[in-house]
Amino acid sequence: MTLVAHLSDLHFGRERAVVVEGLLADLRVLRPDLIIVSGDLTERAFHWQFRRARRFLGRLPAPWIATPGNHDVPLLPLFERLGRPTARFAQHIDPSRVPVRQAGEAWVAGLCTAHGKTWKDGAIQPDLLDEVDALARGAPQGARRIVIAHHPFQPPPDDPRYRLVDGWEAGLRQLSAAGVDMVLGGHIHRAYAVDVAGALGLDRPLLIVQAPTAVSPHLRDRPNGYNLLRLEGARVEIAARYWDGRGFTEEALGRWTLAERSPADLKRRAVA
Ligand SMILES: [Fe+2]
Ligand SMILES: [Fe+2]
Repeated sequence: MTLVAHLSDLHFGRERAVVVEGLLADLRVLRPDLIIVSGDLTERAFHWQFRRARRFLGRLPAPWIATPGNHDVPLLPLFERLGRPTARFAQHIDPSRVPVRQAGEAWVAGLCTAHGKTWKDGAIQPDLLDEVDALARGAPQGARRIVIAHHPFQPPPDDPRYRLVDGWEAGLRQLSAAGVDMVLGGHIHRAYAVDVAGALGLDRPLLIVQAPTAVSPHLRDRPNGYNLLRLEGARVEIAARYWDGRGFTEEALGRWTLAERSPADLKRRAVA
């Protein structure tokens, strides 16, 4: 079994210190194989906030992978916001255009949806999507292909008009064709998971998984929390773990059966 922790929306600079320590303690007990951080690591993209976020990442008890959110793009100066919106994230967190990690059965790539042209909305950049596509096709056989992107590809079940990342539908079709099984995000600060295969007419399951805000005071309907994914073969169980003031309590989001093989794996087997 591969255990993946999915953290999001840390908003360092406004973090709740007691929840930060509680989260680290919870992760030390659970010992995940990999920790995913899907954006908004900082409150306002100040260097001191990135340094604080980076110190937190350094304390995580497992390898981690992170992608920027809209809060990780500085509001000013404008030349930086528009010209190199993710330069500070690259300087402090990870300089890769498309970060990739693998642990156990999980293969994960980051797709940056943050940019400087709007205040908070996100967009899929075609060149980055093509890179993720090519990397996913080359992922190890049998691995679960997971993409992390800050902005949501599906709305919360009770808010169907929520604004999604620009290009979400074509993006999901391309990712599914490349064998991607799950897209993990944040931004809404709420936990839910949904399979979009039926709605989009895809030939294999594709889960959209959203995490709550891990340690910030910007709460929506629920306390701070994060998601835990348990992967075993084609089966995946996803739960949210919510802060109860002293520790984290787990709540199931659902269980799904993913496709047995990715299109790339099938092709490789045919060639062999
Ligand atoms: Fe956020
Ligand atoms: Fe956000």
